[in-house]
Amino acid sequence: MSPPGRPWLRRWLPAALSTLLALKASLCGHVSGSRPNFLLLMADDVGIGDIGCYGNDTIRTPNIDRLAEDGLILTQHLAAASVCTPSRAAFLTGRYPVRSGMVSSNGSRVLQWTAVSGGLPTNETTFAKILKDRGYATGLIGKWHLGLNCKSSHDHCHHPLNHGFDYFYGMPFSMMGDCAFWELSEKRVGLERRLSLCFQILVLAGLTLTAGKLSHLLVVSWTPVIWSTIGAMLLLTASRFVGTLIVHADCFVMRNHTITEQPMHFERTTALFLEEASSFLKRNKHRPFLLFVSFLHAHTPLMTTESFLGKSLHGLYGDNVEEMDWMVGQILGTLDREGLADRTLVYFTSDHGGSLESQIGNHQYGGWNGRYKGGKGMGGWEGGIRVPGIFRWPGVLPAGRVIHEPTSLMDVFPTVVQLGGGQLPQDRVIDGRDLLPILLGTARHSEHEFLLHYCETHLHAVRWHQRDRATVWKIHYMTPVFQPEGAGACYGRGVCPCSGENVAQHTPPLLFNLSGDPSETRALTPTTEPSFHQVLETVWRAVQEHRRTLSPAPPQMDTPGNTWRFGLQPCCGSFPFCWCDREGDPP
Ligand SMILES: *[C@@H]1O[C@H](CO)[C@@H](O)[C@H](O)[C@H]1NC(C)=O
Ligand SMILES: *[C@@H]1O[C@H](CO)[C@@H](O)[C@H](O)[C@H]1NC(C)=O
Repeated sequence: MSPPGRPWLRRWLPAALSTLLALKASLCGHVSGSRPNFLLLMADDVGIGDIGCYGNDTIRTPNIDRLAEDGLILTQHLAAASVCTPSRAAFLTGRYPVRSGMVSSNGSRVLQWTAVSGGLPTNETTFAKILKDRGYATGLIGKWHLGLNCKSSHDHCHHPLNHGFDYFYGMPFSMMGDCAFWELSEKRVGLERRLSLCFQILVLAGLTLTAGKLSHLLVVSWTPVIWSTIGAMLLLTASRFVGTLIVHADCFVMRNHTITEQPMHFERTTALFLEEASSFLKRNKHRPFLLFVSFLHAHTPLMTTESFLGKSLHGLYGDNVEEMDWMVGQILGTLDREGLADRTLVYFTSDHGGSLESQIGNHQYGGWNGRYKGGKGMGGWEGGIRVPGIFRWPGVLPAGRVIHEPTSLMDVFPTVVQLGGGQLPQDRVIDGRDLLPILLGTARHSEHEFLLHYCETHLHAVRWHQRDRATVWKIHYMTPVFQPEGAGACYGRGVCPCSGENVAQHTPPLLFNLSGDPSETRALTPTTEPSFHQVLETVWRAVQEHRRTLSPAPPQMDTPGNTWRFGLQPCCGSFPFCWCDREGDPP
């Protein structure tokens, strides 16, 4: 934090720092220039209130906290979407997900299966791609959830290796309740219902045909009767084994283009991921690298290694977060041991806020968003989008600073690209802004005057940083209707909807002053806020301007791109016997 009482220091420190940075750049000049390595750590569904350095005093995240002590903390760091797939697409491309078509408009929200044709379009450019072209080794370990195939079960058009990563180890899909069996996902419940409906129809058809045959009225052969009986038997078997089918269909691990475990063995996943991260760092320590570790923690079903079970004060969820923190420590330990810490920019974030609906009885299975209202799935409320953001680069970034400026996960794109010596694509709009000036302290304000908060394709809210008044305004055009009323979440549904009858439209929009009311509890009125109309108008003009920059992209997550297809199902073995284990147990 810049010392408030010493304006001269505040003025000179940033300049001195950037001179130092330039000096450092010229000193370590020729080998890899000043280009740092990048270690990007992303948690899954972890709330900003789950982390010690963001104010949690009962959960233990000492490794993340130390990262923050040696680096700096962003307090207003925002995901471009409140669910996984669109948020991750925006992170990797630096663009609002509406631009790449990585949003649904029918409530699907995220890619629903591995065997769907939707995914990050091949003409989108990730920061990994740009850095790879600049000579970086680029690795992804962990969750992808941005699609896999387009036309066949092995074209891998959306695969990480087709998006700029030259090494991949992890889940092409995502963790979900089905992977563990004990938690029924909506997907499984819906599928079971549909299969049993088909079963009933087939049984009915079979009985009618049999009756017809017996009375010599309807059919002349037994063939349709036999087929409907076989069909009914198959469906009955399938609906009994829906869980198993889903686990085999989606809960598997790949190394590059090869499936290594189908289904995965969760008791060893943590150890394998750590082993992979460590060997990636060792393998590439003599060249510039970018390693993106995309944790499966702390998404339900909260697969936790035995040594962490029952250790936290916050049940299985807390155990899982503490295990993730331990993993962060292990990875940073490798960086230290390999002498890479000073040459590596480390970043920690979460893809969006914690899920309030993952609360079963008195048990907490989802993240905690601190004082912020709402959570995962809600496009506009802070709790769904305000996430941890920590940067560390010893000797370059000042340690211990706290930055309150509005920033976005999309900013990682231009920041990483420019530090890595790459060029930003010129043929498309990039919504992220280079963070380096505010990280170094050479700029006081982030470049984001406005940030838009979408829920699917619907613009739910906008934030405006009115710098001359040092105020961050937040305007909500739409908000989800909580269930039950006033509950603060949509219990009984997976996530709140983005549109339809359970979303309230606000005319005039709701206005909050986030600077004084971060919890969004006191909506302002023209009486309580004299500039009410002026703020609404300024923001509306910015929205119009933003809309002029949008051009339609093929939708990736509506029904055609987001429906399970037999021909796209990756299978290790011969269908339907998709199982294999090509992994030895970790050391
Ligand atoms: C710390 O995190 C746990 C787990 O999410 C949560 O239950 C608790 O309320 C948090 N405590 C504070 C002070 O934020
Ligand atoms: C990618 O291709 C689609 C059409 O196939 C197009 O609509 C979109 O604008 C393209 N994206 C970029 C970034 O060029």
